Amino acid sequence: AKKAVLGPLVGAVDQGTSSTRFLVFNSKTAELLSHHQVEIKQEFPREGWVEQDPKEILQSVYECIEKTCEKLGELNIDISNIKAIGVSNQRETTVVWDKLTGEPLYNAVAAPVSPGPSDPGAVFPSGSSIPAAGTSSVWLDLRTQSTVENLSKRIPGNNNFVKSKTGLPLSTYFSAVKLRWLLDNVRKVQKAVEEDRALFGTIDSWLIWSLTGGANGGVHCTDVTNASRTMLFNIHSLEWDKELCEFFEIPMKVLPNVRSSSEIYGLMCLGDQSAALVGQMCFQDGQAKNTYGTGCFLLCNTGRKCVFSEHGLLTTVAYKLGRDKPVYYALEGSVAIAGAVIRWLRDNLGIIKSSEEIEKLAKEVGTSYGCYFVPAFSGLYAPYWEPSARGIICGLTQFTNKCHIAFAALEAVCFQTREILDAMNRDCGIPLSHLQVDGGMTNNKILMQLQADILYIPVVKPSMPETTALGAAMAAGAAEGVGVWSLEPEDLSAVTMERFEPQINAEESEIRYSTWKKAVMKSVGWVT
Ligand code: G3P
Repeated sequence: AKKAVLGPLVGAVDQGTSSTRFLVFNSKTAELLSHHQVEIKQEFPREGWVEQDPKEILQSVYECIEKTCEKLGELNIDISNIKAIGVSNQRETTVVWDKLTGEPLYNAVAAPVSPGPSDPGAVFPSGSSIPAAGTSSVWLDLRTQSTVENLSKRIPGNNNFVKSKTGLPLSTYFSAVKLRWLLDNVRKVQKAVEEDRALFGTIDSWLIWSLTGGANGGVHCTDVTNASRTMLFNIHSLEWDKELCEFFEIPMKVLPNVRSSSEIYGLMCLGDQSAALVGQMCFQDGQAKNTYGTGCFLLCNTGRKCVFSEHGLLTTVAYKLGRDKPVYYALEGSVAIAGAVIRWLRDNLGIIKSSEEIEKLAKEVGTSYGCYFVPAFSGLYAPYWEPSARGIICGLTQFTNKCHIAFAALEAVCFQTREILDAMNRDCGIPLSHLQVDGGMTNNKILMQLQADILYIPVVKPSMPETTALGAAMAAGAAEGVGVWSLEPEDLSAVTMERFEPQINAEESEIRYSTWKKAVMKSVGWVT
């Protein structure tokens, strides 16, 4: 059959916590032509531990690329039109691998070295479930809580040492402490470091190294946005920070080269939340987006200014779209559990069979009937940064059923976003007039209406919710030497917008929000 003639195409790998996708866009219209998605396993070998298999992740990327290309073939689209591929990825998740064999090194079959007395997470008692061979420590993992406590006791100078350089609070969320844990506890990792065979990376580094040749000359790099989530990267000088590496006792030789978010290094990459900011065209100071994935991440572009939050938000690198282009910063409110609560209702409680069913259940009742669900499974992130919190469902009566719990789970996502938005408005001084949203969960119309009701501002969503992948494709297509995407608003001509206006009265919105806050307070201090 005759192949359809099209303009240059750009692909994007979107590697998230829950799934991997490969998507192909038309660079002229941003139209999504074809895609394929594969769900990724998450292992919970112990309370608080979250792991994934880097090789499964890599395999899922190959599978998605292959299947998408097959689908393009069925549409008579010639895959040689794909001029560049971008990568957007779950951030912070930590992999250490052997550069000679290409094998991930976190392998509990090798006995861990003696743990410190205060780090119970470092012991693998016989008979306990142990991590599978070759795993990565995922951003939600809490095993480093005691590592964080010990480190915070010996912060040099003032407590601002880490935050002033990285924009981040000392927390289990970021890669440095996960890498520290691997260096302390996994003999294979220590040995590979001693023998100069170990490479560290977040998922972008692992994928790019593997896809550009792996042990046969793979490129070991990351971009400024991913580097800014490691807690080892100085967001002012845009380099690995020697003092931070000394503080966390991380050998600098294992770190990847840091590049801009839009240049040819085999592939281009951006942390997923930065990619979504680009995909939503939030290039102006004060423009913000909220992405609903495993977690929820509201980023507000602060331009070339590195703004530090007084209300529990992170300062992070938004993007640097070219080697010689300036760096842009963002304030970020990170919520650990958003889509993950739906997955929990499906996999742990079994009250829904598929994630989409949640909308049907919530619609049946249209209210939580006074039930509040705080899904603080990994403690609370922004704006509280409270590791002692754990999940609670409260306000139950004999009348409460699974539909009310489903509704409360959706409301929880919206309340958490409201808390971030309030913090953002306080830090920025100028309240946001509307919220641009994206991510898989935004297909849920009840969620979007609830979000508008609880924020009490309009919520605006693009017809094509794959904004993260679109942003990675745009960065790839705009790279010097590729030049098929200009990053002008007219490039998004295929994307239409849907708008949700608040439909309840302001007083009701406030009452529900203040009851939520009461529930949050009950979740805090659950573990000591
Ligand atoms: O910081 C973690 C974030 O990058 C993970 O994204 O899409 O899996 O919620 P997601």
